[in-house]
Amino acid sequence: MMVFDFSNKNALVVGAGSGIGKAIALQLADNGANVWCGDISDAGAAGAVREMSEKHGAKYGYSVCDAAKSESVAALFGEAKAAFGEISIVVNSAGVFMPKRLLEASPEDIKTHLDVNLMGIVYGCRLALETMIAQGGGGKILNIASVGGRQGEAKSPYYALGKSAVINWSQSVALYGAPYGINCNTVCPGIIRTPMWDVILEADNGGGDAGKEALFDEIVRARTPLGRAQTAEEIAYAAVFFCSDYAGAIVGQALNVDGGDKLN
Ligand SMILES: NC(=O)c1ccc[n+]([C@@H]2O[C@H](COP(=O)([O-])OP(=O)(O)OC[C@H]3O[C@@H](n4cnc5c(N)ncnc54)[C@H](O)[C@@H]3O)[C@@H](O)[C@H]2O)c1
Repeated sequence: MMVFDFSNKNALVVGAGSGIGKAIALQLADNGANVWCGDISDAGAAGAVREMSEKHGAKYGYSVCDAAKSESVAALFGEAKAAFGEISIVVNSAGVFMPKRLLEASPEDIKTHLDVNLMGIVYGCRLALETMIAQGGGGKILNIASVGGRQGEAKSPYYALGKSAVINWSQSVALYGAPYGINCNTVCPGIIRTPMWDVILEADNGGGDAGKEALFDEIVRARTPLGRAQTAEEIAYAAVFFCSDYAGAIVGQALNVDGGDKLN
């Protein structure tokens, strides 16, 4: 069922190979958009394109891309534009988690982590702005941060650092883009049982698989007034709204979709 009408809109989703990014790509496609996927995982991006194509026909494609490398993100945009012509929706969802405490992480760990979670979004937004302005303006940019960016974290301070910077950066992008009719906003997910959580649960569980899901449930209960985890589809509902014309007056906002974990 189409809720939004993205017919004739071309979208680029970075990090579309799994989890939240994939759910956003699929919902954009379900609502009529042509979608180009970027991901470091060839199998992940190909899988997303296969799912969309099986449902809606051959309007999709993908590039293998490392969001941490500006030239790789530029190549992704080039391939998407070569395939689609114009791009009017860009979603930056690629991310990694580093469960290292403040003094445990090496400078190299910190750089590798921020290169993906922060610089990847910086490169994606700059290219999105350049592309949309060159097209004559108009467009939607949506970044995926985290409620982890709403305050400091003891267990994952560099994840919190990157995500808080994404919220701030998205406001700067929004202010730059607004005079051109370009909206930039952020969604901050809470807890979603995607593959990213394997890293968190394995670290907290001493490396083993046993008890991982019980630990996940315990973390959800402790952190979530609503009493349950969120789904990737629930994050995508909010994301797709921000990509729609209904969100035309929303500039530089960050929305928590977290079952009540953080209220600001
Ligand atoms: N799952 C959660 O609970 C949660 C909570 C808050 C925020 N988030 C954020 O949501 C976003 C998506 O995470 P997810 O939970 O879907 O995780 P996921 O692991 O399922 O998906 C992340 C995707 O990013 C891709 N990726 C990783 N490094 C990349 C790189 N260098 N270049 C290109 N692609 C790369 C992966 O291959 C994967 O397809 C991330 O930014 C994450 O920080 C997730």
